[in-house]
Amino acid sequence: MKVGVIAGGVSSEREVSLRSGTAVFNALKELGYNVVFIDADRNICQRLGEEKIDVAFLVLHGGWGENGGIQGMLEVMGIPYTGSGILASSMAMDKEVTKKIFLYHGIPVPPFKVVRRDEIEAFLDSLSQIISFPCVVKPAEEGSSVGVSIARDKEELNISLIEAFKYGDRAIVEKFIEGREIHIGVLGGRALGGVEVKPKKGFYDYEAKYTKGLTEYILPPEIDKSLYEKLKELGLKAHKALGCKGGTRVDIILDKENNPYVLEVNTIPGMTETSLLPKIAQLEGYDFKALVREILELALKENEK
Ligand SMILES: Nc1ncnc2c1ncn2[C@@H]1O[C@H](COP(=O)(O)OP(=O)(O)O)[C@@H](O)[C@H]1O
Ligand SMILES: [Mg+2]
Repeated sequence: MKVGVIAGGVSSEREVSLRSGTAVFNALKELGYNVVFIDADRNICQRLGEEKIDVAFLVLHGGWGENGGIQGMLEVMGIPYTGSGILASSMAMDKEVTKKIFLYHGIPVPPFKVVRRDEIEAFLDSLSQIISFPCVVKPAEEGSSVGVSIARDKEELNISLIEAFKYGDRAIVEKFIEGREIHIGVLGGRALGGVEVKPKKGFYDYEAKYTKGLTEYILPPEIDKSLYEKLKELGLKAHKALGCKGGTRVDIILDKENNPYVLEVNTIPGMTETSLLPKIAQLEGYDFKALVREILELALKENEK
């Protein structure tokens, strides 16, 4: 069996994806698989045709790697792939759709407003009735905290919106939830556990995510058992609401009264050996190689159905 690790891509998360892809490639090699590394640039179609892989291990973040694009292409080509399908991937990548699905399922989300590029002025004019400060502004379709910022007043909000609109035509403006941030790892339809992420300053932005030492990771989170169980259940519920498969990471914020709010589900979470899903999986006895093998096996099982 030939496994193709597909990483890189053309999104703003390319570098991060290449790091994850290399780690997964090495793990599969050590596990004895016949494996090839495929950098998913615009020639991906042709490359896939030439490589004749039996299964794709997707480690693309953002853009068409995570939004159902590549998943659709692989389905047309008849190649099984790891993780979520087309619909779940595209819903999870879109923060507006995600929130609307969550609301239907009774999954708590921070109060939010979707702002379209051509509606900025009307939005800013009616501001006082819809949003309180501070608020968080983010592009509807990005990851890795790219384009995300916190606005403390109307002027900052304007600047934040301009920043978010660099990445697309819709922005989400939502209530800033002050409290703790806990991410839940899900694998094969089961919540594995969680990690508290504690950025040393500000919020969990791009720099805090990818610079060593800027964030403290507490594993498992230091919260009481019943709250931990509740968050694991909520993480799994969010994963299922979107119809996700394989390994995912669900971002949750807890306010000061321990009320949880789900931010998003990451369908292709970081997969370097020190990324969060691998760290969480360790709590349940999966070392990095075992996690990689499990994600691959879940894809093969799914394909047999
Ligand atoms: N409503 C919020 N309240 C407080 N912090 C937030 C909120 N939304 C986002 N953040 C911070 O921004 C980070 C990135 O937001 P998230 O919605 O997960 O987008 P991304 O897809 O870029 O990871 C979160 O990990 C968190 O630190
Ligand atoms: Mg996130």
